[in-house]
Parts: sequence; structure tokens; C-alpha cells
Amino acid sequence: MGPLSGYCKLTPVQKYSIPIILSGRDLMACAQTGSGKTAAFLLPIVAHMMRDGITASSFKEQQEPECIIVAPTRELINQIFLEARKFVYGTCIRPVVIYGGTQTGHSIRQVMQGCNILCATPGRLLDIIGREKIGLHNMKYLVLDEADRMLDMGFGLDMKKLISHPSMPPKDKRQTLMFSATFPEEVQRLAGEFLKTDYLFVVVGHVGGACSDVQQSVLQVPQYSKRDKLIEILQNRIVYMHSNHCFLCRDREQREREVALRDFRSGKCPVIVATSVAARGLDIENVQHVINFDLPSTIEEYVHRIGRTGRCGNPGKAVCFFDNSSDGHLAQPLVKVLSDAQQEVPAWLEEIAFDFQGGRAFTSANTQKVSLEIWLLELFLSITVCLALQIQGNATETVSTVTVSLILVVRFQSAWYF
Ligand SMILES: Nc1ncnc2c1ncn2[C@@H]1O[C@H](COP(=O)(O)OP(=O)(O)OP(=O)(O)O)[C@@H](O)[C@H]1O
Ligand SMILES: [Mg+2]
Repeated sequence: MGPLSGYCKLTPVQKYSIPIILSGRDLMACAQTGSGKTAAFLLPIVAHMMRDGITASSFKEQQEPECIIVAPTRELINQIFLEARKFVYGTCIRPVVIYGGTQTGHSIRQVMQGCNILCATPGRLLDIIGREKIGLHNMKYLVLDEADRMLDMGFGLDMKKLISHPSMPPKDKRQTLMFSATFPEEVQRLAGEFLKTDYLFVVVGHVGGACSDVQQSVLQVPQYSKRDKLIEILQNRIVYMHSNHCFLCRDREQREREVALRDFRSGKCPVIVATSVAARGLDIENVQHVINFDLPSTIEEYVHRIGRTGRCGNPGKAVCFFDNSSDGHLAQPLVKVLSDAQQEVPAWLEEIAFDFQGGRAFTSANTQKVSLEIWLLELFLSITVCLALQIQGNATETVSTVTVSLILVVRFQSAWYF
């Protein structure tokens, strides 16, 4: 723990994972949101690279990174890259980040300047490998952050393509490391394909457990009253009013996405409205509240979303609007997550959970379609808080109807109480 990192004590997941990684074993590690998983893989990898005297070179036809880290979103992979850059400070190890939404030429130039730790989103990674700018022969460490997401239907195929690439070292010639706060059982089985048979599974707390520093509350709010409830909460609780707005859509330019996130990080924009694209991994200081306007379709996504607050031992609050007609399938897992985290379970929720025995089988039926009506815009204008809206664009829908699952993440509003 160097003075530059500012850490003086290892977190539990770091305490258990670092020696395992240093000993060369494969690892699947599950620990709650905000518990320091990033450093748990970066520190031992950088330590080994320093021991091996790794230095970057720009005089190569093809770069052969020693470590590849993949994550599901552009904003998250960039955050991991910045963290890696902190840990290699003062060494000749060069981390590089590449992701979609930026010019491929720019990614290639970054890589060609020397690349030891490559942080990438899957699409751009496969693209650059396909252009033969990256060779995998030297790869010793393959890290899947948010591993359950990286192996699910969205990214699973890309990950399979990656590990079956002809130049990819076989399992026993590389170290494969997987990290997440959630690992559904079916994903644990899929992961076996990527890991050596003697891999270790470290679990801090319960698999998929919510961070116990987040005070969770579940409110029973039908879809048609969500708007009023949100206005009520915002009007009653917000002490500071802010007049600047910023909007962030998936359809917008990557640069605009980054500006919205930067404005939220800096506090210029104290409220961000986002879809599940912001649910995982993002580490933003001082986030006080998460409001789940619409619940996500899986309990794992809920655990990640509320984990944007209550990080690294700080307290946080999360409130969610539970609509009986669309969220019934979440009642059982929600009761479990609440009680595992020693949170109060509302009696009505237990009743719904009891009536609703379907469990995970029903999750796919819950793709909510929410009309982004004028009211949302009115809401933004009337409350004049600073909001960023990130819409999961759906090309087949009209402009006024989008498939959204809204999360509001509120920063610096310490006078809110739920
Ligand atoms: N040993 C430590 N001491 C103090 N702070 C730490 C330590 N390790 C990590 N942190 C800080 O804790 C915060 C959360 O870390 P990180 O983002 O790695 O969490 P995570 O477990 O990956 O969460 P998530 O599941 O949401 O991705 C970061 O701001 C990080 O700098
Ligand atoms: Mg993380």
C-alpha cells in the first residue's frame, strides 16, 4: 500500500484476493459494491509486472500486452484505466484504454505507443485484434470486471470469441481473474469454461448481497403515480435548487456522455438520471442517494444500482418504486436482499413475495416500456434541479417512447431523508 494510493489498510476482498493472484491461481471473486475490487486485481498484477521488469516499447509492428482487462461500459473501463494509471505511476508500465464511440484510429495510435495493460470494451478489443494491432501471445492476465455481465447473453459471445482466438494463450498459460458483486449460479457454471479447473472462488459476505452501508427503502408505487411520488420526494426533500440541466443519452455522442458524467462527478450537476448503463462499477465520490424510478428486470442489476452509493464504508440511501403489476417477480429476491443486508422488509412486500412463487423464471417478462411523455420534461423544468437523462435508445420506437429503466443518482443532497 503505497502513500500515492492513499490506502492504509486492505479491504477484505483485497486481503484474500491479492495473495491468490500473486500465487498464480485463477480466481472468481465476489464482494459487495464499493469494496475495492479494482485494486484487488490491479495491485498484484502491477506488482508482478514490476518484478518482471516490464517496460513499454513503441517500436513494434504489433503490441503484445501482458494484461487485458475488459468491462461492460465505456465509462467503467475508462475509470479502471485511470485507476491503473495511478498504480503504475513512476514505472515504465504503460496502460492504454480503448472503447467504442471514439475513432478507431485514435485507439490504434494509443495502442501503438506501447501497451502493457490494455483496458477495453469487448467490441473495440475484438476490432483492434482483428486489425492485427494487438497480439495475444504475451498475455499473462485476463481480467473480467463485472464478470457475470461479461458472460451473460450480451457479451458472452464476444468473450468466447476472445478466448478462442488462435493467439490466445490456453487457460493453463494465462491467469484468468473474474470480479463482481453478483454471480448468479448459471454464470458461475459458464465461467468454468474460462478458468483453470483448480480456480478459487472468494466470497466476501453473501454472493449477490447488497452493500450493508446502503439504507434501502421500498415504496409501493403504481406506474401511474410514480411521477407524482417523485415530484413529492424531490420537492419535499431538496433544499438546494439548481438551475442547470444536463442530459445524457446513449444515442448521444460519446463526448457528450463523458461531459455529463464529468459534470456529475464534479458536482456541477448534482443529479443524474440514467439507465442501467450507469448501474455497474462507477465509483463517484459523495453519491448520497439512488432512486430506482423503475426497478430493473433482475435483482443483480438492483444490487449494482444501489451500490453507486454507500461505497467504501460511507453511508448511502436507496429508495425504489415497486409497482405490483410489473415488479412481482422481484418481490422474493428483494425480500432476500433486504433481509440479508439487515434492512426492514415491508409486510406488503413479504405478502407479494409469498403469493409470487415464480422467482427468476419470470424475469425476462419484465421489459418495461415507459412512455417518456411531456411530464418528464415538465418535471425537469418545474423542479429545476440539475438532471442528466440517459435514455436507452430504441431505434424501433418513436421518439416519445423509449425502453427505459430510470435510476436517479443524487449527489451532495445531504438533507434528503426517506
Ligand atoms: N484499501 C483501500 N482503502 C481505502 N479506500 C479504498 C481501498 N481500496 C479501494 N478503495 C476505494 O474504494 C472505492 C471503491 O472501490 P472500487 O470501485 O474498486 O469498488 P468495487 O468493489 O469495484 O465496487 P463495484 O462492485 O461497484 O464495482 C474507490 O474509491 C477506491 O479508491
Ligand atoms: Mg468495480
